[in-house]
Formats: sequence, structure tokens, C-alpha cells
Amino acid sequence: MPGTRPVDKLGFQPNLGRSTGALLSVIEKGRPVEPISQLPELIQAFEDTISSEQQERRRINSLVNVVERYCTGVSDEFLNQFETGSQKYTRHLLHADAEDRFSLLALVWKPGQGTPIHDHPSWGVLGVLRGRMRFTNYAPDEVDGQRCLIPVETFIGTAGSVGTVYPPAMDLHRMDNCSEDEVAVTLHAYGLLVKEFHIYSPETAEKREATSTFDTILEGAMP
Ligand SMILES: [Fe+2]
Repeated sequence: MPGTRPVDKLGFQPNLGRSTGALLSVIEKGRPVEPISQLPELIQAFEDTISSEQQERRRINSLVNVVERYCTGVSDEFLNQFETGSQKYTRHLLHADAEDRFSLLALVWKPGQGTPIHDHPSWGVLGVLRGRMRFTNYAPDEVDGQRCLIPVETFIGTAGSVGTVYPPAMDLHRMDNCSEDEVAVTLHAYGLLVKEFHIYSPETAEKREATSTFDTILEGAMP
């Protein structure tokens, strides 16, 4: 297991993890930003950025800035509306773009709740809105002739931390709420409404298909 590095010791690292093949990076810029406090404003900022920036990597960098602004401005009232799940973290669809250029979700995590190792079918920008999340990147390896996945990098993100995933290069990762007592809420933006992805066994590296589900769909979220 790699060492845990507090996110506030990291700067922007666009190439982070290329050497290991893992592409989930957590970014903390530590500079003042103009907050976005309302969801319609966030959606508008996504639409404007996606319409105006055609080059994908630059577009994602701009969306990182948008998510950072929302992390700063989002209200407790908005975050408190989401239920936690007793068995599993909960997923809430906030917005699906009518042209399927992006989708926005809020995920709510009780302490200890997390994902399996998984991939994504599109780019992703994620921000920690509340709490303390751990992000772990995985890479393929072989132990005694057996294929497996090993953790190669771990980051801790707190409110205001923003990170990216950028397939189709290797992007295997998991995330979990590593706080002992605090519920965490994260914002996830993807380059489409994710319907299917894969989850992976760390022991065998085998993957299987999984389907996205939502615990709630915010009123007006679907086009
Ligand atoms: Fe993910």
C-alpha cells in the first residue's frame, strides 16, 4: 500500500500517475475562487464551458475550475437533502444534459462506505463537497503467476478537493469515506449519462459489467 499523501500537499498534477498507468488525480489549487452556490448556475457553467472549449483536455481543466467553485459555494441546505444508505453509499442524479454531453451526480457516503474498484466510460471531474474521502488508484500486476490489481497511489480529499479521471487509458480506482464519524458528499461530473461501467476483482483483475443506478433523481434532472 502506498503512503497516504494529504491533498493539501499536492499541486496541480496533470500528468500524475502516467508512469503507473493510473489516472485518478486529486487536485488542490489553494487559490481564491468565485463561488457557485446554486445548481442551475453550475449547470449553466458546464454548458458554457462545454460549448466554448472544444479541446477535451482543456475542457476538463476548465470544468475542474467550475467544480472547484461549486465546492466553495454549495449550501448546507442543498447537501442536507440527500439520504444516506444503511448498506451502501447513495447516488443522486442532479442533471442529465439533453444532448448527453455531461451528467452531474451527488454521492453520499457514510463513514466506511466505498466503491469497488471500477472504471468509467468517459472523462470525469469529481469534487469533495463535504467530509473526507480517500481515492486509491490501482494497476495490474502479477503475483505467483496470478494476475491481480495492486494499489499504487492514495490521496485524501477534503471539502474543496477536486480530481479527474481520464479514460480510455487505465483508470482503475476506488473511493471511500475514510472518516470515522462524518458523512461525506461528493459531486461527480461525467462526459455522458453513465449507464454501464466495469467493476474489478483485486485478486484476479477480472472485470464484470455493472449498471448505474440512482437512489433519487432530482426533479427536472432528466431532459
Ligand atoms: Fe470512479
